Amino acid sequence: MLSNVIATQAVHQKYGGVVPELASRAHQQNIIPVVEEAISNAKVNKNQIDAVAFTRGPGLLGSLLVGTSFAKGFALANKLPLIEVNHMQAHILAHFIDDPKPTFPFLCLTVSGGHTQIVIVRDYFDMEIVGETNDDAAGEAFDKTAKILGLPYPGGPLIDKYAKEGNKDAFAFPEPQIPGLNFSFSGLKTAIMYFVRDRQKENANFLEENMADICASVQHRIITILLNKVKKAAKQYNIQDVAIAGGVSANSGLRTALQAMADKQQWRVFIPAFQYCTDNAGMIAIAGYHKYLKQDFVGQDIAPLARMSF
Ligand code: KG4
Ligand code: ZN
Repeated sequence: MLSNVIATQAVHQKYGGVVPELASRAHQQNIIPVVEEAISNAKVNKNQIDAVAFTRGPGLLGSLLVGTSFAKGFALANKLPLIEVNHMQAHILAHFIDDPKPTFPFLCLTVSGGHTQIVIVRDYFDMEIVGETNDDAAGEAFDKTAKILGLPYPGGPLIDKYAKEGNKDAFAFPEPQIPGLNFSFSGLKTAIMYFVRDRQKENANFLEENMADICASVQHRIITILLNKVKKAAKQYNIQDVAIAGGVSANSGLRTALQAMADKQQWRVFIPAFQYCTDNAGMIAIAGYHKYLKQDFVGQDIAPLARMSF
């Protein structure tokens, strides 16, 4: 990996979430400087580049359009082949950037701001989703909880930070009983909302006085919901190689809890380096590289997709 430049979009903090129109405008402003910086950091000339990989979906259409249009223009101008990449597959394929790399088949829990999936990965592009969320994603559960607690967006990293100083057993939040390998997080959000409302009636400073304990308890519940299903899936599919991916895989509690479960279950676990957990260009590049090896290119008529399965 020669360079992996990320432009953070600070604009979303102001509104407590991603505003689609503002996100695509920020993409437009950032894309040329970011590509220039990436090429400069990598110390390569444009004529040394063999192909352009871009995110086709799933995601916010406006932002995807900016990336797709830029990739098409860049490919056309530099006479390069184009490679489309699925964002969720790329999160998983980030495991093939550095060693140790997982061997097929392995199981991956992919947890981001928009998705929560248990995926059986049989080959680079042979993946099957065997479990997913019925409502909110795990990252959304973190972000919405943060909002209820008065913390800025994105809430995941902040809850993680407070949780480190809190007692995870201070407050008990419900674990939903969802059949099979699917998830649900919307009930948890509602439970937290009523919990905070009721406690604040008794003590106006409840949040300030208990922030660390609340964060630790909520994070603990999200982690147990996720890992109980991972354990079930690993048994059901008889797989001992387990990975996590996506923005929420940066969560220190999840990383520690997965490692502890792995020691007990005798799994081999794969936890991505922090820089490859939240959205990054490196993961799109590694997915693009494996498609490049197969010469799997697309034409200039390609369009982005807000929804996209494997
Ligand atoms: O994969 P990602 O960067 O973007 C999407 O594809 O959605 O994931 C973003 C999500 C956000 O919900 C954010 O709060 C969460 O990942 N996140 C975390 C942590 N870092 C990012 N959640 C919990 N703990 C973290 N340390
Ligand atoms: Zn993502």
